[in-house]
Amino acid sequence: MTTSAARFAQTLRRTGAGRTDLEPRLVGDGVRRFRDPAYRTHRLRPSPALVHQLEEIGSGAGAGAAPEFFESGGWYGLRLALARGTDVYGTGEVAGPLRRNGRTVSVWTTDAFGYDDTTEALYQAHPWVLGVRADGTAFGLLADSPRRGVISAGADLLMAFEGEPFAAYVIERDHPADVVRALTDLTGRAPLPPAWALGYHQCRWSYEPQSHVLEIASGFRSRRLPCDVLWLDIDYMDGFRVFTFDGEKFPDPAALNRELHSRGFKAVWMVDPGIKVDAGYDVYKSGHEGEHFVKDLDGNEFHGSVWPGPCAFPDFTRERTREWWAGLYAGYLSHGIDGVWNDMNEPAVFGLPGKTMPETNRHEADAGLGGPDSHARYHNLYGMQMVRATREGVRAARPGHRPFVLTRSNFLGGHRYAATWTGDNTSDWGHLHWSITMALNLGLSGQPFVGPDIGGFAGDATGHLFARWMGIGTLLPFARGHSIKGSKDHEPWSFGALSERICRLALERRYRLLPYFYTLFREASVSGLPVARPLFFADPADASLRGADDAFMLGDDVMVRAQVRPSGLCRAPMPRGRWARFEPAGEVEHELPELRLRAGAIVPLGPVMQHVGERALDPLTLVIHPDEHGRASGLLYEDAGDGFGYERGEFRLTRYEATVHHGRIALDSSVVEGGWGPREGAVRTVVLD
Ligand code: NOJ
Repeated sequence: MTTSAARFAQTLRRTGAGRTDLEPRLVGDGVRRFRDPAYRTHRLRPSPALVHQLEEIGSGAGAGAAPEFFESGGWYGLRLALARGTDVYGTGEVAGPLRRNGRTVSVWTTDAFGYDDTTEALYQAHPWVLGVRADGTAFGLLADSPRRGVISAGADLLMAFEGEPFAAYVIERDHPADVVRALTDLTGRAPLPPAWALGYHQCRWSYEPQSHVLEIASGFRSRRLPCDVLWLDIDYMDGFRVFTFDGEKFPDPAALNRELHSRGFKAVWMVDPGIKVDAGYDVYKSGHEGEHFVKDLDGNEFHGSVWPGPCAFPDFTRERTREWWAGLYAGYLSHGIDGVWNDMNEPAVFGLPGKTMPETNRHEADAGLGGPDSHARYHNLYGMQMVRATREGVRAARPGHRPFVLTRSNFLGGHRYAATWTGDNTSDWGHLHWSITMALNLGLSGQPFVGPDIGGFAGDATGHLFARWMGIGTLLPFARGHSIKGSKDHEPWSFGALSERICRLALERRYRLLPYFYTLFREASVSGLPVARPLFFADPADASLRGADDAFMLGDDVMVRAQVRPSGLCRAPMPRGRWARFEPAGEVEHELPELRLRAGAIVPLGPVMQHVGERALDPLTLVIHPDEHGRASGLLYEDAGDGFGYERGEFRLTRYEATVHHGRIALDSSVVEGGWGPREGAVRTVVLD
């Protein structure tokens, strides 16, 4: 694609010759599979996005949208007519407005430093669209291709991919939430993370040396700023060799991690895919000897430059290479590392066109992924297959713990392996706003565990922007502050007393809301529903909510109304019904987003903690907002917070029901799922009008 994706999509619209002899197949309730007729003469290849092969359960019948396939100049595509009033969402990682009508996305994973809302290709590839019709009914369209693609939402919806025909899945449902559930029936669910991963994370490129990491830890604890995780960016490595430690700056990583643990912190350390070409470096040596690296067109090991200089790149499309990679984690994690950050896995390669490896490179992919082929075919899957291997390695190395892996690049369905963040954003108000829309559209694409670099990565935040960002970022599923090398300090205390006070309240809100967040993450792991949801989920038929992107829902019950501009209030309309304000941290602070609870709902809160390891759920506070009949209900999920006991029933899902009449509260609770008995301990109640 030499022209912009938007112009290219117009060309395809003009030139694509339609194929209409389709034979849709029913592969699930309200899920139809369409295959490009060209498939009959092409090899059918397995899908990386889907969790299992979908068997046909009926033929063509079923109402709803039907795409038309076309071919043009080696590109295979489909067009779907959009009825008037249809709004388009999803399409994975995209900056700008929540509604994607009128937008074009290039489906090609790209190191997009300095991106903005005009950037067509970001770090991830999600060939997926959610459509919501005027009446609130919804459909989803999954184009099952790993190839370079384009998604363009105009008067019709166009999705096209280079070089290979593909199948498409069309999902029909009455509510958009049910479309996302059905999507994750196909692409799988995000596993339940360890509870500590829902706390606040502090990162910087880079905290170094070892002693400075401990100063940051003290900075949080001495100021009573809650925090669970400190992050180690690339400068801890010996010459950027992954799985090594710089002997001078980080002489004893195990001692560092031990000290962090003793202060209630976890530590996440970075591992990039580029392996320094260095015959004296054991990771390179074993990768080279095992022929684990991607080859160039002539069959030589491909070398490209990243942080360490010339690097070789593991070919994660093969199981035997994924196993080799996974095996590298045992020794590494034995230093007390709790989680892994996989970065630069688009894969980013400096100084080459498109900042990646040549498309003519060769992958020896297993048949299960489509068999040996060019990088052009496997580019979009590189990050996903990397974190697939990393997750395996982390799981095997710490069998009693739930893996935590963060990735920059990923592909549709890759939420099965890793959480994500929205890459190298910038410290400005526009990017603060897009923190919300990006998290929401990724959630609508199946990835519930997402958040931005709080404060913005590139550039310097002001105290005002930083405090606002902390207020919003701590209400998004993944809450981590991070900043580029050379920027000024971006810790919660770096911008003066006022900003620090607001950050503390924001963090205390997050920690008080953790029981609710954890319940939502559990819901995501069983139903696929995102943790953060667009406002229109509250009433999909209300057209006024469709473009609202400075407010969002946490679950079904809590509404977050944010101020994303330096002055002025949240502009989003209110969904119908009564929504009462509540303040988890006690003190009302106008710089923080407004929180509201749906009438009829109960939200569980814990006490303020400095880190989740305190595991102090007592007292549990139930904030109750009775409906017009005086009734309200809500759920609370609890388990050990780590490990896999929950898979054997060691958890409880409690349903609380309250009736409020003349100021008297009758509270009932029942364990509706799980093998744990009813919880003991103090329960406080707060009733909202
Ligand atoms: C790029 C990542 O996006 C950023 O978060 C990180 O700090 C740098 N690489 C350095 O590792």
